[in-house]
Amino acid sequence: MNIGIDQISFYTSQYFLDLRTLAEARGIDPNKYIIGIGQSKMGISPPDEDIVTMAASAAFPLKQRGALDNIETLLFATESGIDQSKAAGLFLHSLLDLPERCRVVELKQACYSATAALRMAMGLVAMRPQNKVLVIASDIARYKLKSPGESTQGCGAVAFTISADPRILTIDPEAGFYSADVMDFWRPNYLSEALVDGKFSTLTYIKSLKASWKQYAEESGRSLEDFSRFCYHIPFTRMAAKAHQKLARGISEENLERVIGESLLYSRDAGNCYSAALYVGLTSLLDNAEDLSGQRIGLYSYGSGCVGEFFSGVVQPNYRKSLLTKLHQTMLTERAELTFQQYEDIYHYGTPTDGGTHDFPQYRTGPFRFAGLQSHKRIYEKT
Ligand code: CAA
Repeated sequence: MNIGIDQISFYTSQYFLDLRTLAEARGIDPNKYIIGIGQSKMGISPPDEDIVTMAASAAFPLKQRGALDNIETLLFATESGIDQSKAAGLFLHSLLDLPERCRVVELKQACYSATAALRMAMGLVAMRPQNKVLVIASDIARYKLKSPGESTQGCGAVAFTISADPRILTIDPEAGFYSADVMDFWRPNYLSEALVDGKFSTLTYIKSLKASWKQYAEESGRSLEDFSRFCYHIPFTRMAAKAHQKLARGISEENLERVIGESLLYSRDAGNCYSAALYVGLTSLLDNAEDLSGQRIGLYSYGSGCVGEFFSGVVQPNYRKSLLTKLHQTMLTERAELTFQQYEDIYHYGTPTDGGTHDFPQYRTGPFRFAGLQSHKRIYEKT
């Protein structure tokens, strides 16, 4: 039985900061960000947008086309958790009017968790092929102001359904994966910004890639030539380029652009979306490449701490009819640019912790907003 991605949708916040603006404010050559890091803009979520509203906004177009009608399980992947106990997906369950007969769970392992969710979803569908699983990855990447990570912030969510006989991408059974207990990037419960050993994190990303690829190649018998395109976890787009250069030693700039270029377009403008980043790359590839029907693509998922996995999938005939290309492209072009002052004001806004009643200022959001807090309860509303 073929199992894989049947529908996929991407959402990022309606606001961005141009990295040239950040470079000017920080007294840094903009080419460090544009060329060295490979980023142009970073998505910024205003106070009334959080991982729940981004997730709901990503899933809403799937709901509108009836793709969530017989969802039995919702797996919510995030490393920007809003509660130590309640799964973020339960807020989504009501916002999207999902059936009562639906399991809802949150998963965590840094940026890898959406791939863990994909794997679990495939197992559930294999047991009950008539049902579908909704996987959502939603994150806000936040580092200390003026830190090396600041220019690699971003936000976004991807929602995809896993089903039998999928219309977009069947996932191959072979996979190579790797885990190690390392401190390359982490966020203690008492901090709202991630801590990172930046250079070390790039090395662990590559070490995990090499181990995962080696295993995958041995198990599948495939070589790099068997893939038409590659999608990598994208903390910043230069990282994905460097990763592919490690596998395809000596690859020309032209060939590098051909095999990964389209997958980097959305992330360059949305910034790091942590658990969603690989799937933002996949959406970007599918939306922007020529017809890839029948072609195999390689995917590499990495979550600091760390877990990595290399796997692959085959693009299905007529997959383009299922894509939301126009919606994604319009969303990205219609975002509003923030001034540097607005960016810092939003950064410092913070979520009140006093248990009082707080109404949040109304910014532009998708179909849902995080309206405020009351007695430590989050209040969401449809816009
Ligand atoms: N013009 C062109 N290029 C320039 C330049 C200029 N004026 N100035 C600098 N550069 C280049 C540098 O040469 C360098 O290129 P190479 O990597 O090819 O040598 C690149 O720009 C970056 O410069 P630095 O190495 O000096 O940058 P930095 O040390 O200030 O920060 C970083 C880089 C450590 C990755 C930092 O962005 C960071 O900490 N980011 C967050 C952590 C991260 O994203 N890690 C990725 C792996 S972990 C992961 O993937 C999980 C996750 O999502 C976080």
